Amino acid sequence: MRLKIITFKMLRTHTCGELRINDVNKEVTLCGWVQKTRDKGSIIWVDLRDKYGITQLILEEGVSEEALLKKASKLGREFVVKATGMVVERLSKNDKIPTGEIEIKVSSLEVLNASKVPPFTIENETDGGVDLRMKYRYLDLRREPVRKNLQLRHQLMKETRAFLDGQDFIEVETPILIKSTPEGARDFVVPSRMNQGEFYALPQSPQTFKQLLMVSGFDRYYQIVKCFRDEDLRADRQPEFTQIDCELSFVERKDVLDTFEGLVRHLFKNVKGIDIGEVPHMPYSDAMKYYGSDKPDIRFDMQFVELNELTQNKGFNVFDSSELVIGINAADCAEYSRKQLDAITDYVRKPQIGAKGLVYVKCNADGTFKSSVDKFYTQEDLKAWADKMNAKAGDLLLVLSGDTDHTRKAMNELRLHMGTELGLRKKGEYKLLWVVDFPLLEWDEESKRFHAMHHPFTSPIPEDMDKLETDPGNVKANAYDLVVNGVELGGGSIRIHDRAVQQRMFDALGFTKEEAQAQFGFLMEAFEYGAPPHGGIAFGFDRLCSLFGGSDSIRDYIAFPKNNSGRDVMIDSPSPIDQGQLKELGISLKK
Ligand code: AMO
Repeated sequence: MRLKIITFKMLRTHTCGELRINDVNKEVTLCGWVQKTRDKGSIIWVDLRDKYGITQLILEEGVSEEALLKKASKLGREFVVKATGMVVERLSKNDKIPTGEIEIKVSSLEVLNASKVPPFTIENETDGGVDLRMKYRYLDLRREPVRKNLQLRHQLMKETRAFLDGQDFIEVETPILIKSTPEGARDFVVPSRMNQGEFYALPQSPQTFKQLLMVSGFDRYYQIVKCFRDEDLRADRQPEFTQIDCELSFVERKDVLDTFEGLVRHLFKNVKGIDIGEVPHMPYSDAMKYYGSDKPDIRFDMQFVELNELTQNKGFNVFDSSELVIGINAADCAEYSRKQLDAITDYVRKPQIGAKGLVYVKCNADGTFKSSVDKFYTQEDLKAWADKMNAKAGDLLLVLSGDTDHTRKAMNELRLHMGTELGLRKKGEYKLLWVVDFPLLEWDEESKRFHAMHHPFTSPIPEDMDKLETDPGNVKANAYDLVVNGVELGGGSIRIHDRAVQQRMFDALGFTKEEAQAQFGFLMEAFEYGAPPHGGIAFGFDRLCSLFGGSDSIRDYIAFPKNNSGRDVMIDSPSPIDQGQLKELGISLKK
């Protein structure tokens, strides 16, 4: 049931988005910000804006009092005013806004607050650059597109809570000042005044707490929660971000996937009116083999085809010496010009992509082939490649080679690049995918040890439990990610709930017994007091908003975001603190 809104009309009778033609002849009072004024001398129009819309005010010489006209002529942009008057039908109507058929013939006008000239125009299309808008974020937030993003965020939050509440989850808050949980990123730390020389860490996620809540018998927990990670920032990463964090007891993987497919289905249906259908599952190994990524964008096909057998031992040394030769088929691109092909080659050679070169094969309309390696391959050879890649006349084959990991990574970038170029990554089309069966551990060359691919509390799949000591690199994790349009929207796992298994996991990760005890003794001890089998997932809530809203940057959906250097330029943070404060914390800064 929707409660009656009781406070929002205190100074006003209506909002600026509310009045229509059937309100004509009503005496009304509106409050809002002056979007713009048009002063024709004998007539002044004022566009008055609030959260709900824009209504036009009109003051006319001979009709309105002179003092009133004078006051109106002095209104500047963003002045806050209260205007009373009669609703009248407009002579020239504006069909672009819902209030466009009426205007208010003003009989009294009160300036509630003046405004300096804003540093950029507060309209849907603004002249302000990003830096300026971030510095004056509170003004940027007055603009409708920005405010709409936050309304979308609110709606998603509301629907998330409605769904999870309906499924018997309860929201429990977990602490913000904690001890570090290793999730792969660096921690933000907070010095403790009362325990000098010691630090709290801000949570990278509430992982250990939600598991402890399962030990406590809470059965179904969720929290829409701030998480903090000190990592390099990108369009889809902020140092503080929000998760929909969830955990359930007495479940297996299928139960978790079904439950949260339900959540995502509910959100798509209720917020976007889209039925997502069944969400396919793809093993991690296939994702890497066919897309070179653990988060493939499956809005378009262009899968990798392995060509080693057809390309090697024909005298082309580059392929002969490669561990992997893979191609993608760019359909209908055989007509690409020299310039276009050079641009693709330059793209893959960029240091961040890292390919040494690119081989192409044009499948000509007349059934012949033209390639960049014609010297080494006959028409029959090239036809065999084309057949394997399901190519037809008019298609363009793009081939990369090298060691497996780098080549797949580069081809993933090339595939996405081509998908974008060819308009195959359509906004508004949503393709969801569960990626499952991740490796439990990944080898880190630098530290010469294994790292948990998800986190150290993830359970191996039962069949692989015995390999934890004998073949740790090949143990599969009972972990899953939800990928939408190539974005990792969420990830989770079935957890270890047995102390001995958790200890074996820490051993595999190269923790000494003492290190494991010092960092996670509390969790392992809890496992000795009747920990139920449990599992869960966390979704990136900001990413969810940006996917639904259609922008690539999660910043657009955060009221007060940080920039790429992790700064809040509006409040100018981080900032130095004074010596007294440092001393109290027992911190001395060496220059
Ligand atoms: P994970 O580390 O995969 O799992 O995080 C879950 C989801 O959070 C989002 N995300 C981010 N969003 C914005 N900025 C960031 N810096 C950022 N980092 C992560 C992603 C990601 O899928 N505790 C586990 C979950 C679990 O096992 O239940 C966890 O945090 O969308």
